[in-house]
Amino acid sequence: MAENESKTEEFTLQESRVFAPPAAFAAKAAISGMEAYDKLCAEAASDYEGFWARLARENIDWHKPFTSTLDESNAPFYKWFGDGQLNASYNSLDRNLTNGNADKTAIIFEADDGTVTRATYRELHARVCKFANGLKSRGIKKGDRVIIYMSMSIEGVAAMQACARIGATHSVVFGGFSAKSLHERIIDAGAVAVITADEQLRGGKSLPLKSIVDEALALGGITTIRDVIVYKRTGSNIAFQEGRDTWLHELVDGQSAECEPEWVDAEHPLFILYTSGSTGTPKGVQHATGGFLLWAALTMKWTFDIKPDDVFWCTADIGWVTGHTYIAYGPLAVGATQVVFEGVPTFPHAGRFWETIAKHKVSIFYTAPTAIRSLIKASDVDPKVHPRNFDRSSLRLLGSVGEPINPEAWMWYYKNVGEERCPIVDTFWQTETGGHMITPLPGATPLVPGSCTLPLPGIMTAIVDESGADVPNGQGGILVVKRPWPSMIRTIWNNPDRFRTSYFPDELGGKYYLAGDGAIRNKDTGYFTITGRIDDVLNVSGHRMGTMEIESALVGHPLVAEAAVVGKPDETTGESICAFVVLKQARPSGEDAKKLATELRNWVGKEIGPIAKPKEIRFGDNLPKTRSGKIMRRLLRVLAKGETITQDVSTLENPAILEQLKESA
Ligand code: WTA
Repeated sequence: MAENESKTEEFTLQESRVFAPPAAFAAKAAISGMEAYDKLCAEAASDYEGFWARLARENIDWHKPFTSTLDESNAPFYKWFGDGQLNASYNSLDRNLTNGNADKTAIIFEADDGTVTRATYRELHARVCKFANGLKSRGIKKGDRVIIYMSMSIEGVAAMQACARIGATHSVVFGGFSAKSLHERIIDAGAVAVITADEQLRGGKSLPLKSIVDEALALGGITTIRDVIVYKRTGSNIAFQEGRDTWLHELVDGQSAECEPEWVDAEHPLFILYTSGSTGTPKGVQHATGGFLLWAALTMKWTFDIKPDDVFWCTADIGWVTGHTYIAYGPLAVGATQVVFEGVPTFPHAGRFWETIAKHKVSIFYTAPTAIRSLIKASDVDPKVHPRNFDRSSLRLLGSVGEPINPEAWMWYYKNVGEERCPIVDTFWQTETGGHMITPLPGATPLVPGSCTLPLPGIMTAIVDESGADVPNGQGGILVVKRPWPSMIRTIWNNPDRFRTSYFPDELGGKYYLAGDGAIRNKDTGYFTITGRIDDVLNVSGHRMGTMEIESALVGHPLVAEAAVVGKPDETTGESICAFVVLKQARPSGEDAKKLATELRNWVGKEIGPIAKPKEIRFGDNLPKTRSGKIMRRLLRVLAKGETITQDVSTLENPAILEQLKESA
């Protein structure tokens, strides 16, 4: 962990600025004041199961009520609300038809070019039902897996909801992943269908989707896919395979706008979402219907303090977990109005976020630190795109997710976007946790820039050492969760052993959930600051990337003999990817090295996706290794940062190599 010296940590520990919740905000908040927070925590501490059972009854409409709350008999394969039955789509849509929300706008779709389309709850319900009936007409049924490879759209959300409605388990693959990544996920999930679009529009450019699906399916080895359903977004010319491919509009045409939801057990897998781990191939994180939905709805109320007239905007993509919990399910489950955005923050100009907030009177805005940092830079260069030029009076709450937010970016966000009126919720969580874990409550928690503050009631986070023992406040350690919680990962699809060893390691006693992050608590306040990953997972612009995945992509290139990938701190993207490469031929220099670096970058883009392209590539005759042949990544990290190596290098087999690796191609 010492390797993960984090600037954020240093700053936050010295951070003395504290921002109390505005009185007017606190007065109306769902959880108002720290006493209310403490009371909920005390309830969870005194009767853990009773606490969760109460919340699950209050927040979810159960088709069949549960009588068992938590089943720990097969730990760590925990079961929540095991004998209850529900449907996630019913809870997102149908219940809004009878509670006065039927004609309320559910989704305001802001297209890349600024065109706006809206869907009320009634309309969205009809659309999802037709979609679900269409899927059924193709023989897709409960328990089947469906891959969704789509752009941001109402149809993307409807696709997820339609799967949930018929009990099919969806697995959304981010539209920026390559054919190879898609292929790998289709095979692992054993999916029967792919839902995609002809193309996606981002920043004024159209990018292919359907042709990548074709490419993935042509890679071979896929035996399960029967259908490819295509949403017509741009109308470009695409290849169609008779019998396999169907246009979405033709599929839903003539279908009934009613579809009885398929009632599923609470533990029924709602979705699988692939994410990077420290080793090997991506892990299919499996979530359960009941627990996930409870937390999606409840954190909308607790963390975002959602109110009937709010306009909520989460800028994430449905390809990531944030888009699952806080676009596809959470906002709908609480009957909110939300903006779904197709585009990018910098098109047609870097004031697009602020302009869109003004246009749709957004009141709750949730984005990533990387976006904030890049928009700070952009408004330094071009003052016209500074938030001050746009009306932000509708805003009442801001949120941050995906990576640590450094205090400077936090202060800029607070002052320039939130006009010093809006609390900021810095939400720490993961694909595996299903929803927020450690976050301020906007009407209760005094804010400290750079700290995600305290765990939500019922979430038993702690910091321990390598043997699983608690460490005192003020001392860094490993972040764990001591008790199971409803929205936690249930298993890794197809790989229960990997689930157990990755998340419940024996070294920590086999009972604590290991988050994979380091953290430290403030001596006085007990506030948490996340200090970064303790494994070989990088966080580039809030996207999780495994160093091993990138390394194996690199060594797949015919010229590459060996590669080591490390993260390098980056002002805008948080971390950037730096690859050290040994070729099978002589080390290139000058123009040759540059050319080859470009080729390798594109290669990784094709193998994994553009987000995995190394920013820097350095060539060497070898990598720094110990005499036993272990690559010294710690030294590579120092080199990547451009710092001088002060560590003892006498155990190195080949210390001279360090000199070579200082320069990037
Ligand atoms: C990091 C995204 C600091 C962390 C929801 C975690 C954060 C990984 C924060 C999960 C935050 C997420 N402060 N770090 N507020 N939020 N992280 O699975 O390293 O894409 O383990 O889930 O992002 O990334 P994932």
